[in-house]
Amino acid sequence: MGAARRALAAAGILGVAAGACLADAPAPGYPNGARAFQANCAVCHGPAGAGIPALAPPLVSYPAHYAGSAEGRRLLAMTVLNGLYGAITVEDKHFDFRMPEFSSLDDPTLAAVLNFVVFDLGHAAAGTKPLTPADILAERAHPVDGAVVREHREALVHTGA
Ligand code: HEC
Repeated sequence: MGAARRALAAAGILGVAAGACLADAPAPGYPNGARAFQANCAVCHGPAGAGIPALAPPLVSYPAHYAGSAEGRRLLAMTVLNGLYGAITVEDKHFDFRMPEFSSLDDPTLAAVLNFVVFDLGHAAAGTKPLTPADILAERAHPVDGAVVREHREALVHTGA
């Protein structure tokens, strides 16, 4: 970054807007979640959750929407605990790959990483309840296959919940 900024500055194109943009990046509301996201999720979903075309979907809109309902929060916990497998459509783009499971991460870490996705990357609607370690624990008691997680996702997306 330092070298890149110096190169840009030397080229005379590091304008006020770019400087302001760097300074304005807000601190995450869930710093532990941010750290866990960068360590475990960013490799596929990108550091800002923008996704990678044809590989892994963006996480900036759907998860924040899911978090608005109890079923949706269950789906988020299920996804990180069991992975997700099969064809899905996200923001009109098609994905059909396999997300691994992250059940080796503890409940507070999984709750924090999902809250980072929902509130820091996704800007959930006011009044959305954060996920708690108890939400994760409740789903941990019922392990399912990643294909079953997809069925839950399809049911939720198609009922518009
Ligand atoms: C190896 C790549 C990979 C990693 C690492 C990964 N994911 Fe995923 N993720 C995927 C793929 C691929 C899908 C879509 C699966 C499909 O096509 O059915 C997905 C789907 C999701 C979804 C569902 C999105 C939706 O619209 O329903 C969520 C939420 C999610 N990932 C969160 C995470 C989180 C949080 C982490 C880190 C703990 C993570 N992922 C790590 C590849 C990955």
